[in-house]
Amino acid sequence: MLTVLRPKISSITNAPEKNQSEKLQAICDLLKAEVDYYDWVGFYFKNGDKEELKLGPYAGAPTDHTIIPFGKGICGQVAVSNENFVVPDVQAQDNYIACSISVKSEIVVPLFKDGKNIGQIDIDSNTPDPFSEEDERFLEYVNQEVSKIL
Ligand code: SME
Repeated sequence: MLTVLRPKISSITNAPEKNQSEKLQAICDLLKAEVDYYDWVGFYFKNGDKEELKLGPYAGAPTDHTIIPFGKGICGQVAVSNENFVVPDVQAQDNYIACSISVKSEIVVPLFKDGKNIGQIDIDSNTPDPFSEEDERFLEYVNQEVSKIL
């Protein structure tokens, strides 16, 4: 099902009329609109030389968490683990930063450029336990396409 979105992602990343941040925004908007259990979709990137993440383009409710130190929350853990983090139930996590009480689950997939973990895509869902390996493979594809334009 998510596979049908792959060509739409590559047509956004290849769009000549959009700049980099417009492309990231268009991807967030597309994913939030097309996948019913994707309720907040955003990119975080390493903030220069600092050991922290900074929020980039996103779709969904504004968040206070525009800066996240490495190691903090699901996002900060992925910044140091370099691995996907699928959270079926956010309430079961000790090291979790709540953005909204409606969020039930989360998936964070790291974004690599030249083998380095430079950021991540973060998705919050208001549905409990909605993410499968299909989401992981799809979001890895999204990040591979994005890394080509960074
Ligand atoms: N829940 C995340 C924080 C970012 S918000 O989901 C937008 C975390 O625990 O890192």
